[in-house]
Amino acid sequence: MRRLVRETRFDPAQLVLPLFVCPGEGVRRPISSMPPHCQLSIDSAVEECREVASLGLGGVILFGLPESKDEEASGAYAEEGIVQEAIRAIRREFRDLLIITDVCNCEYTSHGHCGKVVGETIDNDATLDWLAKTSVSHARAGADIVAPSDMMDGRVAAIRQALDADGFSGTPILSYAAKFASVFYGPFREAAESTPQFGDRRSYQMDPANGREAMREIELDLGEGADMIMIKPAMPYLDLIRMARDRYDVPLGAYQVSGEYSMIMAAARNGWLDEERAMMESLTSIRRAGADFILTYFAKPAARLLG
Ligand code: PBG
Repeated sequence: MRRLVRETRFDPAQLVLPLFVCPGEGVRRPISSMPPHCQLSIDSAVEECREVASLGLGGVILFGLPESKDEEASGAYAEEGIVQEAIRAIRREFRDLLIITDVCNCEYTSHGHCGKVVGETIDNDATLDWLAKTSVSHARAGADIVAPSDMMDGRVAAIRQALDADGFSGTPILSYAAKFASVFYGPFREAAESTPQFGDRRSYQMDPANGREAMREIELDLGEGADMIMIKPAMPYLDLIRMARDRYDVPLGAYQVSGEYSMIMAAARNGWLDEERAMMESLTSIRRAGADFILTYFAKPAARLLG
């Protein structure tokens, strides 16, 4: 009877798995705070995608660890960059697997910030050019969707214009529209080796206290041409997922971030929480709040459970 009257369901197709791609061959380097996730070399990422495809997941979102980092984030927009090569390798094997790419600079800059650093501040407008070049290089390599996560103002317009000019008017932008300066990204920064070397991200990421401002950020991104929007993190911001769902009739994603995953896994490994139930309850709550799809490190076990 509970099955009959259940209000919220979800499908593996609504889950997206984040992958961290690193140089090398046959590499599966465990990320200690996010078991059993690993940094994967391109060949290992392709293997991972075999499972993603067979489980019927919605797709993958790729993050890259470049061979070397510099002040100009040149690895982010290199035609033969780590993500660009990973896209090509995955696309060669899987014609139909949805490939989303995270567009940001923090994994590629020597200082770990998401934008160009001038003195001790971030130069918002100078960063737009990097983001536009990165997006075009991802689209050329075969990405289906580009997802800017840097939080620079005006990036959606800059990316849209660059994609259109390069013949990719059909490539949609999934904007991390409301992304908060959150402590819950901690484990990700281990995974992506992107901890800022000085200061923090509060000059470009949002104040967790501001919900109305989140709606304004979404509105601005939609005005600039975003096709889909995302709220991040997910569980501490369920109210904003609901608010966005009620206001905007566009595809809405939520990112259940690394710290949300690690908290549940840590508690489960201590025997304090039942892992499966905590996973399913957390994902259900995000769907109930109104997210159409969820980026989550639980994508594979959840899909297995859903059968
Ligand atoms: C890059 C980026 C981050 C995440 C996604 N893209 C880290 C950050 O902003 O510091 C976090 C994802 C997660 O914690 O799982 N800017």
